[in-house]
Amino acid sequence: MLHLEEVNTVLVIGGGVMGPGIALSYARGGYMVRLSDISETALETAKKTIGSQLETMAEVGEIEASEIEPVFGRVSYTTDKKAAAEGVQYVVEAIIEQEEAKRALYAQLDAFLPEETIIASNTSFFNIFELMPDRRKPYSVITHWFDPPHIIPLVEVVKGPETKENVMAITVRMLERSKKIAPRMEKYTPGFFVNFAQKALTDVADSLVKEGYCTPEQFDLAIKSSIYPRGVVLGVFQKADFGSNPTVEGVYGVRAGKGFFDYAERDIDELFKERDRRLFEAMKFAMKNINDKL
Ligand SMILES: NC(=O)c1ccc[n+]([C@@H]2O[C@H](COP(=O)([O-])OP(=O)(O)OC[C@H]3O[C@@H](n4cnc5c(N)ncnc54)[C@H](O)[C@@H]3O)[C@@H](O)[C@H]2O)c1
Repeated sequence: MLHLEEVNTVLVIGGGVMGPGIALSYARGGYMVRLSDISETALETAKKTIGSQLETMAEVGEIEASEIEPVFGRVSYTTDKKAAAEGVQYVVEAIIEQEEAKRALYAQLDAFLPEETIIASNTSFFNIFELMPDRRKPYSVITHWFDPPHIIPLVEVVKGPETKENVMAITVRMLERSKKIAPRMEKYTPGFFVNFAQKALTDVADSLVKEGYCTPEQFDLAIKSSIYPRGVVLGVFQKADFGSNPTVEGVYGVRAGKGFFDYAERDIDELFKERDRRLFEAMKFAMKNINDKL
């Protein structure tokens, strides 16, 4: 069984929009990274992109200037996948979103990767577990990054029907070491957490506009001044905990000491005060963006 401590080299395949930022992130987490693409030009661009992204990260204080060189130096570039796969324990697939291209790549990789080497796909929608050769299924996982991957903290981690728990655990820990937030989804659904939820909201917004209830501008104004900034502080489930009223709905939520989360040990008055302070902060940022339009 592969152990987290044994993972030191990551192969990222696909150096387009997503690959470079993913490679940079793992390199920042201390991993040696090989970035591979079928196109030399893509790799040249990727190298420049990584250099420039690191400069910006130092400029805004996300990393120290002294980190640029070592992180940059941990990424190497090649079109030779087979040579690049030599001695790697973890592969990230970030090639074009095309079922047949992904299926062919997994078969190709399977021919030269040791059985326990993990393959993580950055697919946006596919059930990649159906595209994997059978023996790779226990060692496959979806890690869905967001553009730009070196900035957005979220990487959704999705388990396949046969994915080993160890593969999930290693994946999450590697992402956390690379300063990412890695919530687990225990089975595949198209769109995972965010695009699934986003689609529901977009569908509602579309139909409200199409049926003449509001303009796009008024809809955006409504959510930018309410549920979006509030969501930064409370999410969906904790919002419900704070919102439930025991006198109206029975004993449940923050005031009852337990809802989706446990508040039994907390000073409830202080908890509400802290919620309010954080909401004021989030709303200040929201209002700045509303008044000072993009
Ligand atoms: N762009 C986004 O915002 C975004 C966000 C999340 C996930 N994704 C997913 O990430 C993956 C990559 O998306 P992208 O936007 O970076 O694509 P892209 O088209 O910008 O880059 C894909 C790269 O893969 C290379 N490639 C194609 N086939 C290859 C092969 N067999 N071996 C090696 N390299 C190969 C191409 O030359 C290209 O450079 C897709 O699955 C996509 O759905 C994209």
